[in-house]
Amino acid sequence: MNASIRIVDGAGATLAMLSRSVSDVLEEASRRAASEKCSRLQAIEDVLADHLRKLDVLVWPLALHRAVQQVDAATRAPQVAEITIESTSTALKKEQSMPTQRENGKPQTPPVQFFGITRTYPHKPSAALYESLVGLDRHKEALLTELQLQFSPELLEQWSRKHHGAVLKVVQEQPLRVPLVIFSGDVGCGKTALAETVGAEFVATGRYKHVHLLKLNTQVRGTGFVGQMTDLLVQAFSKALAEARSHPAEPTILLIDEADALASSRESDQMHHEDKAGLNTILQQLDGLRTSDVRLVVLFVTNRPDALDPAIRRRCSLQLTFARPTQAERQEIFRRAVAELRLPPAQLGELARLTGVAQSGFGYTSSDITDRLLPAAVRSSYIANRPLTFEAIRDEIGKTPPSPQFRAGD
Ligand SMILES: Nc1ncnc2c1ncn2[C@@H]1O[C@H](COP(=O)(O)OP(=O)(O)OP(=O)(O)O)[C@@H](O)[C@H]1O
Ligand SMILES: [Mg+2]
Repeated sequence: MNASIRIVDGAGATLAMLSRSVSDVLEEASRRAASEKCSRLQAIEDVLADHLRKLDVLVWPLALHRAVQQVDAATRAPQVAEITIESTSTALKKEQSMPTQRENGKPQTPPVQFFGITRTYPHKPSAALYESLVGLDRHKEALLTELQLQFSPELLEQWSRKHHGAVLKVVQEQPLRVPLVIFSGDVGCGKTALAETVGAEFVATGRYKHVHLLKLNTQVRGTGFVGQMTDLLVQAFSKALAEARSHPAEPTILLIDEADALASSRESDQMHHEDKAGLNTILQQLDGLRTSDVRLVVLFVTNRPDALDPAIRRRCSLQLTFARPTQAERQEIFRRAVAELRLPPAQLGELARLTGVAQSGFGYTSSDITDRLLPAAVRSSYIANRPLTFEAIRDEIGKTPPSPQFRAGD
């Protein structure tokens, strides 16, 4: 059963041939099913997805599903000479040429910007912001360790050999984990700031020449056309992988901020069909990263961890929860933010106390202090043409209440 596998466009024209025959795929799949203890069909799907990815061919999840069925059926019908997989490329071209909005009667098709931020570290402003983040030392350490082990799994093997004389089975299985980290927690507590700046500290370890960040644009949700979000997500992951592949010795982090917008729970009653398809695509792409030829770590940031689908949460290798700063942390935020004023500890402590649990039952977030309270104190001192003082900051506290707490269901 040496049937070949042809990739076609929507009109049936050949786009590419897979370098593996159906029997190769089946052989690879049975090895994978045994080693990963997954079902035969899942293993066929994973093998096909891997080969398609290497060819940079994008397919709809449904087309992949159909191809799996065809490969499976081919074992019972050895006379099959060829199976075909329909690529999204033509379908996508058709979709992109559809009018998405009309201006002066002319159809407009806004180009999709897959990444809102693409950054290469070292990057001085990021290093400074990373340093300024207070109270996150344990999160920083856990995150850096996770990144190091994800990008350099040989370190764990060295550790294992040193302490156990062999590479433990649990260590061998590490690279098969989905490289996914989730940041969750209250507003304004440094989730986005840490995610966007950790690369600066990671590169400072000296192990890599550069570290790269790609921040997914929420535009990839698309404008609601059937299959659009799925396609955009497949394209975004494929672009991220291509970027990572272009510098294989340098780590790439894919940041998905406000991830609940893309990966909300299927349990939600209002979940639109499009969102379900998008979520399935994310799951498929995340699983694909386990066996990808390049390492890409995905960082999900969310205020609403409960809104994330359990299948996403189950896959994450590290979850960090962010909370509002404690009294000591608020004091340190004030000390660093207005270091030039050299406020004595008693005054810094007083500012921290006043920004603690308010009548509303919660204290200030870190960003309430740095982005709202202190700028307000600077503004009023400027208007009064007076220096910025302890009193000016203290007087502003009553006028600038803390942000409401983020509750599930908000
Ligand atoms: N732990 C912290 N220490 C010092 N400054 C902080 C800290 N956390 C946040 N900030 C300040 O607040 C700003 C906003 O924080 P950030 O955007 O990271 O919050 P977030 O947790 O992502 O909030 P949201 O959930 O609303 O998106 C940061 O750029 C920084 O100036
Ligand atoms: Mg944020």
